[in-house]
Amino acid sequence: MGQKPYVIDEMISAKAIAARVEALAREISQHFAGTDKLVVVGLLRGSFIFIADLVRELDLPVEVDFLEASSYGNSMESSREVRILKDLRGEIEGRDVLVVEDIVDTGFTLSHVLAILRTRRPARLEVCALLDKPSRREVDVRATWVGFSIPDRFVVGYGIDYAQRNRNLPFIGAVRFPE
Ligand code: IMP
Ligand code: MG
Repeated sequence: MGQKPYVIDEMISAKAIAARVEALAREISQHFAGTDKLVVVGLLRGSFIFIADLVRELDLPVEVDFLEASSYGNSMESSREVRILKDLRGEIEGRDVLVVEDIVDTGFTLSHVLAILRTRRPARLEVCALLDKPSRREVDVRATWVGFSIPDRFVVGYGIDYAQRNRNLPFIGAVRFPE
């Protein structure tokens, strides 16, 4: 609401996403093979569809928890100031933790979240990010697994929003403002 009119150009199809999620899940299942203490932590809200698809492809016993860090608000720019709005419900000390993030952009959100989780002494702490915009990085942080590396475009769909809209698109598209 109150946004300038925009169009969405499809970048990654629902089919391509599904194939990539399956491949990621295979790698993650191998990496954590044999564990009985995995907690998959979704960062709200952008990861909610990704985590739902990913955990259903994992060949492992999993628990699911969620954490919400402060976001962009209605803007397209990172606030650089990250706060925890909703913490995990469970303890992660001694657990294997897989953080599931929608996009790593400047890296502020992920590095902050990882710093907080590390203080809780998980046995292992890995990250699976659906999208990565390496050209935007300002903080040295990397996901263990990345679905797709993308150029510097503002994207929506498959859980990811622009001003809370378009999360329900089945594909990932780039937002464009026509002249
Ligand atoms: P960072 O702290 O700059 O790395 O930003 C990470 C968060 O910003 C992601 O988890 C997203 O919620 C949001 N974000 C970054 N790029 C985009 C985008 O292109 N579309 C929508 N949200 C984005
Ligand atoms: Mg996010």
